Amino acid sequence: MLQDADRRNYAVGAFNIYNLEGIKAVISAAEAVRSPVILQLHPAAVKYGGKTLIAAARQAVQDCSVRALVHLDHATDRELILSCMQAGIRSVMADGSHLSLDGNVAFTREIGNAAREQNAFVEAELGRLSGTEDGLSVAEYEARLTDPAIASAFVRDTGVHCLAVCIGNVHGHYRSEPRLDFHLLERIRKQVHVPLVLHGASGLSEAHVRESIQLGIRKFNVNTEVRDAFLSALSRTLNDKPGTDLVDLMLNGVAGMRAVVIEKMGLFGSAGKDPQ
Ligand code: 13P
Repeated sequence: MLQDADRRNYAVGAFNIYNLEGIKAVISAAEAVRSPVILQLHPAAVKYGGKTLIAAARQAVQDCSVRALVHLDHATDRELILSCMQAGIRSVMADGSHLSLDGNVAFTREIGNAAREQNAFVEAELGRLSGTEDGLSVAEYEARLTDPAIASAFVRDTGVHCLAVCIGNVHGHYRSEPRLDFHLLERIRKQVHVPLVLHGASGLSEAHVRESIQLGIRKFNVNTEVRDAFLSALSRTLNDKPGTDLVDLMLNGVAGMRAVVIEKMGLFGSAGKDPQ
């Protein structure tokens, strides 16, 4: 999927989902605009929904009429990754970004070996994504960015299929105008020949997204904006019509989330990339 995005110069959206409503919103958005898509499960969602949620996501992917897959996001726990692969997930993020460089390489390589046996794909992160709440000094912040000088060896030594970069992107709401370091991204791109991934895509402007795609980003991770859309649709509905039927309430949540996903697919250039 990401190689096709690379050939045709667009990016695929990976949307975090937590429940059946998320699955429905993302898949129906993808089918509506003929876009490939990634249904992404964070370990917290796996903990909550277990094998039932994984099975529902896999079934939705299997039944839908566009290219779609289920991906495990930000997994730091080997056992969890193995159990998700056993439950049929074939794309995982081995997140060793909290470890030392050597620790990250060893962890990612170990997961890569297990993944190969299962025919699964692995994403890893080099550098360390900051949260908006992190309050780092400039030096601490810069030390967390992806170092282009080691990126190529990292990819070679771990054998990962795609690489998440840290170029000033953050998870959650950006407190001020996002500052992505495109010069750094360009340097990383020159060193690394697997598709690049940008986490923290909520709140990025059209210009940010366009430039990122030009410089090799092939997967955008989106959580906050779609989750907010779901939650605000629920609270609006309950405010406007207390005692709304549960199915109607969920349908409104799905519609709110779906609209944001459709907008992102347009922005990422993935809309229209799957034939009718
Ligand atoms: P946002 O919540 O900022 O969209 O980030 C999502 C993400 O990167 C999930 O891995």
